[in-house]
Amino acid sequence: MEILETERLVLRPFTGDDFADYAAMLADPEVGRFLGGTLSAEDAWRNLAMVIGHRVIRGYSMWALVEKDGGRFVGRAGPWRPHGWPGLEVGWALARSAWGRGYATEAARAAVDYCFDVLGAEEVVSLIRPDNVASLRVAERIGHRHLRDAELMGTPCLVYGQVRA
Ligand SMILES: CC(C)(COP(=O)(O)OP(=O)(O)OC[C@H]1O[C@@H](n2cnc3c(N)ncnc32)[C@H](O)[C@@H]1OP(=O)(O)O)[C@@H](O)C(=O)NCCC(=O)NCCS
Repeated sequence: MEILETERLVLRPFTGDDFADYAAMLADPEVGRFLGGTLSAEDAWRNLAMVIGHRVIRGYSMWALVEKDGGRFVGRAGPWRPHGWPGLEVGWALARSAWGRGYATEAARAAVDYCFDVLGAEEVVSLIRPDNVASLRVAERIGHRHLRDAELMGTPCLVYGQVRA
C-alpha cells in the first residue's frame, strides 16, 4: 500500500474509515460546484467505493490527503482513469476549510511525478470546467497547459496537462 509524503501532507489510499470526512466534503455546495453537484451520504458512500474499487481494478487511484501535522483529512488527489476517460487524469479536490494554502498544488505535483515515474505515463491530464478559476490556477502552477477541449458526462471541459519531460 503506497504512501506518499509531501512537505505538509500524507497521500494514502482511502479506506472505509474516511467515509464521514469524505461525505462531509462532498456534501458542501462550494466543493461540488464544479464536480457535478453535491452528493448525499448514500452517493458519497458509492463514490468512496468507486475510489477504492478503482485501485483494485487499475492498481492506482486518488489518495486521501491528510495533514502531517495532526492527521486531519483535507481532501483527495491523484491518478484517475475510469473506463472511457479521455486520458490518465490527475484530479484534486479539497475540503473548503483547507482551501487557500496551496495543498492542491502540493498534492498534484506529487501525483504528476507518480504518474510519470511509477506508472510510466507519457501524458497526464486534468479535466477542468472552464469557469473553475481556482482549479485552472492549480493546473498552471504545476506546469500543465491547455492541450485540447473535451466533453465529460455531457459538460464541456478543458483538457489541461503535460507530457513526460
Ligand atoms: C480547486 C481547489 C482544489 C483549489 O484549492 P487551493 O489549492 O486551496 O487553491 P487556492 O485557494 O490557493 O487558489 C488557487 C488560485 O486560484 C485563485 N482563486 C481561488 N479561488 C478563486 C476564485 N473564486 N476566483 C478567482 N480566483 C480564485 C487563488 O487566488 C489562487 O491564485 P494564485 O495562485 O494566483 O494565488 C479547491 O478550490 C477545490 O477543492 N475546489 C472544489 C473541487 C474542485 O473544483 N476540484 C477541481 C476539479 S477540476
